[in-house]
Amino acid sequence: MAALSLGMPAIRRSPSAAPSIEGRPDVAGLVDRFGRVARDLRVSITSACSLRCTYCMPAEGLPVIPRDELLSADEIARLVGIAVRDLGVHEVRFTGGEPLTRPDLVEIIALSAAAAPGTPLALTTNGIGLDRKAQALADAGLSRVNVSLDTLDREHFTRLTRRDRLPRVLDGIAAAHRAGLGPLKVNAVAMRETLHDAPALLAWAIDHGCRLRFIEQMPLDADEQWKRDNMVDADELLEVLGERFVLEPVGRDDPSAPAEEWLVDGGPATVGIIASVTRSFCAACDRTRLTAEGSVRSCLFGDDETDLRGMLRGGADDATIADRWRAAMWGKQAGHGIDAADFVRPVRSMGGIGG
Ligand code: 5AD
Ligand code: SF4
Repeated sequence: MAALSLGMPAIRRSPSAAPSIEGRPDVAGLVDRFGRVARDLRVSITSACSLRCTYCMPAEGLPVIPRDELLSADEIARLVGIAVRDLGVHEVRFTGGEPLTRPDLVEIIALSAAAAPGTPLALTTNGIGLDRKAQALADAGLSRVNVSLDTLDREHFTRLTRRDRLPRVLDGIAAAHRAGLGPLKVNAVAMRETLHDAPALLAWAIDHGCRLRFIEQMPLDADEQWKRDNMVDADELLEVLGERFVLEPVGRDDPSAPAEEWLVDGGPATVGIIASVTRSFCAACDRTRLTAEGSVRSCLFGDDETDLRGMLRGGADDATIADRWRAAMWGKQAGHGIDAADFVRPVRSMGGIGG
């Protein structure tokens, strides 16, 4: 199991014993004790990546997950089908690591589209390799992509990602546009090293028809360098953007959308800020996650994982798997508690969970 092969402390998981469902109402959806309902599924399909962003990966990358420990394309599609048909999930996003490092990504999308017809399928990617795959992904049934891009300054990009690959990301974004994978969102983690590149990134995004969202850095970096005192928060970012643009708050697209939107120079363009740390939206969270090894993770910050891969490979039927998934989500924690004195970082870093 990955926790061992990753050389990290073992993750608390419940391989065989079902998580407790005491007090759970008998409903189909993924409800939890705090009145939330998860309808948005994030599927991590690999922990491998073509970049090494300092806020995510260690310089050497995460240890490779052996092939037979990863869910296959068929297994992923089966779980996507169960989530949509039996559990009320209405949007699926594939993430990593970097999903484009999986050679069977197009097949994963095609099989998932067939298992969940009509459900929007999205991809979070760093854009590298998208120039070659965007059209095939769109043809397979992918609806849209979010591309991670923190700066347009090539030197800053190289330092932050530890790879000199900015032009490849820009090629990927152009290809995604051509393939109609929009509305294309660009995610930028707000970092001190690139803070003053933020206005140029916004101007570029508006010019290129991308919806830019900045994300407050969360303590999910493998190197454990994150410090609350040194992080760029939404207020500081707004101040820097405000030196070049007039920003007017317009709220969230919907109550469970993590990004708060600001109108830029009177609109129609907007910029989003995902203030995961300073204005936590855990109370409205509608996410359920699958790790690349096939465990349900109810929260980014909750190390409790519930294995489904063993059930899939042991011949369990869809109804039994759906029940285990419901039980896993019933145990979802209230929130990440980053600001609490007793906050403990999750064992896995972002690359091992998926954003
Ligand atoms: N804090 C916030 N966002 C992060 N991402 C990766 N690591 C972090 C972190 N520590 C973002 C990536 C990508 C998405 C998957 O998560 O930039 O957009
Ligand atoms: Fe790779 Fe994304 Fe992590 Fe950067 S943030 S190292 S692109 S998985």
